[in-house]
Amino acid sequence: MSKATDPDGFNAALSKWRATRDGYAGMGGVLGEALAYAMDGGGKMVRPKLCVISASAVLPDWSKDNSATSAWRKDLVVAAAIAVEMIHSYSLIHDDLPCMDNDDMRRGRPTLHKAYGEATALLAGDALLTDSFAIIAAVPVPPEHAADAMACIRELATAAGGEGMVLGQAQDLANAAGSMQDSGSALKILEQIHRLKTGALLGAACALGAAAAGGSKKVIDAFRFAGVQIGVAFQVMDDLLDDSPNTGKTKGKDAAEGKQTYLNLLGRSAGLELVQGLTSEALQGLKEVGILTPDFEEFAAALCRRKF
Ligand code: IPE
Ligand code: IPE
Ligand code: MG
Ligand code: MG
Ligand code: MG
Repeated sequence: MSKATDPDGFNAALSKWRATRDGYAGMGGVLGEALAYAMDGGGKMVRPKLCVISASAVLPDWSKDNSATSAWRKDLVVAAAIAVEMIHSYSLIHDDLPCMDNDDMRRGRPTLHKAYGEATALLAGDALLTDSFAIIAAVPVPPEHAADAMACIRELATAAGGEGMVLGQAQDLANAAGSMQDSGSALKILEQIHRLKTGALLGAACALGAAAAGGSKKVIDAFRFAGVQIGVAFQVMDDLLDDSPNTGKTKGKDAAEGKQTYLNLLGRSAGLELVQGLTSEALQGLKEVGILTPDFEEFAAALCRRKF
């Protein structure tokens, strides 16, 4: 299988993801069922893949059982990969609620609130958000390396919180309501929103992998920058795919809502050029610190070609 779909170490992350889902299912009750539903396949797992590819760039052997890599470091990379996908899953559940995008379909099936009700959807999101940090904190990191685990927690919290993804979601809603307090052009405003609502978390996915693998500050910064650029490109692509029947979401929902997107503000061809440009900047930043790997390059290129 290609490195772009099955990067080294991703299987370890997938096993932990499934074990976490099974743990929720085993809780019984509607919350446990809803959490298992939210974690039940269908997602592209872009963020954990970016996380493990970034970790491999810093520490190529981290996932090999016979490597000299300490078990706790492998656990930390895997926990980071799972945690960022749990935050992403929570963000989608809340994003789909009637008070936000009011979407009925996600990953080819009813959204969580359609299947389990709004209160359970809200609580499932809360649980995924909170438990993601518990999963990182539970890794038995030796005291002399505690700073690596703290770096992961800080990275994820900053990207997901009120100065990152949550702020982006707030600005997205304000922009849709026409009350955005920003004097830039529509495209500039949209780029800022995309940078926060999606770029921040993809930036964290890359930075988390680098931090968990023991990368230096310079390397972690380069991965964060690369991930943010790839994240903005990813959201531009998401906008361009609004009229596609292959996303597992309601086709044409952005257009029906009259939402400002890169599809209606810039058009498909210029949008695709922007995706390429942002991706090149991401790769260039990694090249400059000598940390760009063929796997990272291949994965970034595959994201530019995605059809769903
Ligand atoms: C959808 O993310 C929301 C955005 C930030 C664009 P994904 O396209 O990664 O969703 P899944 O996880 O593959 O369903
Ligand atoms: C979602 O953006 C971004 C986050 C969930 C943070 P969209 O609203 O465009 O994502 P989709 O199209 O519903 O997946
Ligand atoms: Mg949204
Ligand atoms: Mg949405
Ligand atoms: Mg969208």
